[in-house]
Amino acid sequence: MELGFWLHRARSCYNDMNLKIDVRKGSGTDLSLFAISDLHLSFNKPVGLYHIDFQADIDKPMDVFGWERHYDQVRDAWLETVGADDTVLIPGDISWALRLDQARYDFDWINALPGRKVLSPGNHCYYAQSKKKVRETLPEGMEWIDADYTVVEGIVIAGTRGWNLPGEPGWEEETDRRIYDRQVGRLKMALASAAKEHPEKERIVMLHFPPATPKVPDSDFMEVMREYGVKTCLYGHLHGRSRRDVIEGEYGGVILQLVSCDYLDFKPVKVKL
Ligand SMILES: [Fe+2]
Ligand SMILES: [Fe+2]
Repeated sequence: MELGFWLHRARSCYNDMNLKIDVRKGSGTDLSLFAISDLHLSFNKPVGLYHIDFQADIDKPMDVFGWERHYDQVRDAWLETVGADDTVLIPGDISWALRLDQARYDFDWINALPGRKVLSPGNHCYYAQSKKKVRETLPEGMEWIDADYTVVEGIVIAGTRGWNLPGEPGWEEETDRRIYDRQVGRLKMALASAAKEHPEKERIVMLHFPPATPKVPDSDFMEVMREYGVKTCLYGHLHGRSRRDVIEGEYGGVILQLVSCDYLDFKPVKVKL
């Protein structure tokens, strides 16, 4: 809000002086945070950004879900939208790979696209058993956060995977409660540490699972985010028909934003602040 206000003032001043002002993306004068999750890539060898062989280079084509050559769509939209100085937040389901040496092909493809990238885990990120090993594997310019945080353009970005919410269809108290509680604890741990080290900074959270749904309108994830004054929560995971469960906008004290790639029509979107 404050930044927008001062940008507006700066623009007015320059306009008054009949000067043209070019507020470039990522120049430091314009906040350039984008997001897109659930890329669900599965390259099985090093590939370039272009000329991907649909038959030979991909293990799990998403075309069966109607995502026609979605990596081409993501690439074109990303190149159109994101500048080298911008940052793209990717909350989960990044790669279908089971092992890190396979996921590396997907990381390298993402890395060839412009901008800094901040990634966090989804339920399909089976390769991510060790945060340390994921970080060692990621190319420079890509970061992995999981139960911790990073700082981008003066804003704290905290992340954890999240989980199904109590009361959702399929919820099983005996097995799900333990994972849910642990994930709530990991979010709290990330935000507590960010609040201690950067009490003045705004906070964004990257979850993979939604923190609220029409069936479960509040959760401990929401409660923790309210407690730590989180401005915006990005989430993914909802695809196809599940997208009808989207909750977006100002909600329970937090701005919620669904960024799963089919929901975004495969185009990275600006983070709402
Ligand atoms: Fe997904
Ligand atoms: Fe998912």
